[in-house]
Amino acid sequence: MSVIDEVKQRADIVDIVGQYAKLTKSGRTFRGLCPFHSEKHPSFFVYPEQQSWHCFGACNTGGDVFSFVMKKQGIDFGEALRQLAQRAGVALPSRFEPGVESEERQRLYQINQAAALYFHNLLNSPAGEKAKSYVTERGFSAQTISDFQLGYSPNSWEGLKQYLMERGYTESELLTAGLIIEPEGKKTHDRFRNKLMFPISDARGRIIGFGARVLDDSLPKYINSPQTPVFDKSGSLYGINLAKDAIRQQDQAVIVEGYMDVITAHQNGFSNVVASMGTSVTEKQVSTLKRLTKNITLALDADAAGEEAMLRGVGFENTLGAEVKVIILPQGKDPDDVIKQDAKTWQKLLEEALPVVDYTFNMVASELDLTTAKGKSLAVDKLLPIIAEIKDPIRQAHYLQKLAQLLKVSEHSLEAALARIRPRQVRGRAEEPKPEAATYLHPLLSSPLEEYCLALLLQHPELKVKDEGLLPEYFENSENREIFIAWQQSDKIELVKEKLAPAIHEHLDSLLNKNLSSTKIEQKYAECALRLREKFLRSLATKIEAVLALEAQSGGKAADLAKLKEQGVEVNIQLGEVFAQKSRKRLEQRSRTL
Ligand code: UTP
Ligand code: MN
Repeated sequence: MSVIDEVKQRADIVDIVGQYAKLTKSGRTFRGLCPFHSEKHPSFFVYPEQQSWHCFGACNTGGDVFSFVMKKQGIDFGEALRQLAQRAGVALPSRFEPGVESEERQRLYQINQAAALYFHNLLNSPAGEKAKSYVTERGFSAQTISDFQLGYSPNSWEGLKQYLMERGYTESELLTAGLIIEPEGKKTHDRFRNKLMFPISDARGRIIGFGARVLDDSLPKYINSPQTPVFDKSGSLYGINLAKDAIRQQDQAVIVEGYMDVITAHQNGFSNVVASMGTSVTEKQVSTLKRLTKNITLALDADAAGEEAMLRGVGFENTLGAEVKVIILPQGKDPDDVIKQDAKTWQKLLEEALPVVDYTFNMVASELDLTTAKGKSLAVDKLLPIIAEIKDPIRQAHYLQKLAQLLKVSEHSLEAALARIRPRQVRGRAEEPKPEAATYLHPLLSSPLEEYCLALLLQHPELKVKDEGLLPEYFENSENREIFIAWQQSDKIELVKEKLAPAIHEHLDSLLNKNLSSTKIEQKYAECALRLREKFLRSLATKIEAVLALEAQSGGKAADLAKLKEQGVEVNIQLGEVFAQKSRKRLEQRSRTL
C-alpha cells in the first residue's frame, strides 16, 4: 500500500470535515452547513463509507478527504498530504519533499523571518523615526504597520549582517537569501539600507523576500530581493498571506500593482487585494489565486491597460477556467490614491468591472471607425485572434456573435476567418468503442477505471486532441484528479510531472508504465471516458436520492428541495444520455460482428 493510501485509510473524513463544519448524523451520512460558503440550510454531506463529501448547494461539487483539505485551506496536494499524514501519524518519506534543498529552504524562511523582525523593531525605535513619520504621513495606522510587519533598514553597511551572524546564520546563507551583497573583490554588506521595508510572504505566511522603498523622491523608488531558492518575484503575490481568507470568503480576488495599493486597500477594509509587485500578472500568480477563487479582477492603470488586457487576459481565463474581469483606474492614479480619496469610488469601479474580452472589444471599437471596410478589417485582425484563444466553446461562440453584431457582418464570414486561424480545431468524435465486460470493482483505495483512463491518456499523447468531455470531477480520487488536471494543462506529457506534487510522482510513473494493449486506443478512450461519466453520474444520483429521502422526512425548505430535485432530474437526463450512447455503441458493435 502506498503512503498516500495509508494516510487515506487512517484519516477519517468525518473527523477532518468535523473540524470545519458541525456535522449531524442522518442515516448513513453526515450533514451540515457547507464550510465553503455561507448557507442557512445544510446542503453539505459526508459519506463515511465512501470516504467522500459532496455539497449540493452553491459549490455543487465533491471529492475525497484530500480535495476537501485542499479546497478548505487553499493548499496544494503535497501540503494536504503533509498535514493529513502528520495527523494520522504516518511518516512521509523525505523524497516527497519538493527538492533536496528543503532544509536549505527552511533556513531561508527563518533568516527572512529574523530579518523582518529586525527591521520591524527598528521602525519603532529612535533610529527609525524618519521612516516612521513617512509611513504615518502615508496614512498607515499602527495596526496596519503591525499587520504588514513593515520595517526600517538602518543606514548602515553591516547592521543586519552582524545581527544575523550573531544568531548563527552564515555569510553564505545571507548571500543566498539576498539580504547582503558581495561587490566584486570587496567585503559583503547589507543590501537594504535606509529604506522602508515590506516583507513579502507566501500564502502560508512564510517570509520569502522583501520590497524596500526609498524615503524620499530618489530613484530607483523600490528595490526588491533578488531571485532566491524561496523567492520568485514574478510568481509571488504581495499580501496573499493576509488576503487569503478574505478572498475565499468573498470568493473574489483583486490584483493591483503595488505594495502601497495593497496596504491602503486592506486598511480600508478591502482585504481581498494582492499585488503583482510592478510586473505584469503571470500565469503562476493566477494559478495561486485559482486555489482560492475563480473570480479574479485585474486593476489596470489607464496607460498600460489595453495592452495588458489584450495580451494576457484570455490566457488567464483559460488557466482559471473562468472569466477574468478588469477595472481601469482613472488616468494617473493608482488604487492607493483612489481609495484614499474616496473608498466608494473604488467600490464602484469594482462593481463596474468588465470581463476582459468585453473590455478589449470596447477599446478596439473606440479606436477604430467601424463603419468603414478598413476599420472592420482592422477590428477583425485585433479581436479574432483573441476570440480564437478562448477555450470555452460557448464563450467563444458568444464573442464571435458579438463581433459580427459590432461590425455588422455575417457570423458566417467570421467563422470562416476563425477557422483559418485555427485550422485544426475539429472536435474529434470518436468512433464506436468496443464494449468491455464492465468490472465494477469498488475497492476503497484504488479506482481501476480512473487509472486505466489516465494511463491511456498519459501513454497516448495523440488522445490530447480528442475531446471526450472528461471533467476533473469524474476523478473521485484526488491523486488521479490532480494528474488529470496536470495533463489537461500540459502541452507535452513530459510537463505533467513538473506540475505535480512529488508525492504523486510514483503514482504517475506506475500509470506511465501500466501495461496496455496498443490496439483501438481511441475507442478504448471513448469507452472508458463514457464509463467514468456514468460512474460519476450514478454516484451523484444516488447521493441526491438519499438527500431527497432525508428532506422528505424532515420537511426541508421548499426552495432547496426544488433545486435539488431539479438537479436530480438533470443528472438522470444525463445518465439517460450515457445509457443511450452505450446502447448505440452496442448495436453498432453487433451489426459489425454480424
Ligand atoms: P509604483 O511606482 O506605482 O509604486 O510601482 P507605488 O506602490 O504606488 O508606491 P508609491 O505610492 O509611489 O509610494 C508599483 C509597484 O511596482 C514595483 C513595486 O512593487 C511597486 O509597489 N516597483 C516600482 C519596483 O519593484 N521597483 C521600482 O523601482 C518601482
Ligand atoms: Mn502609489
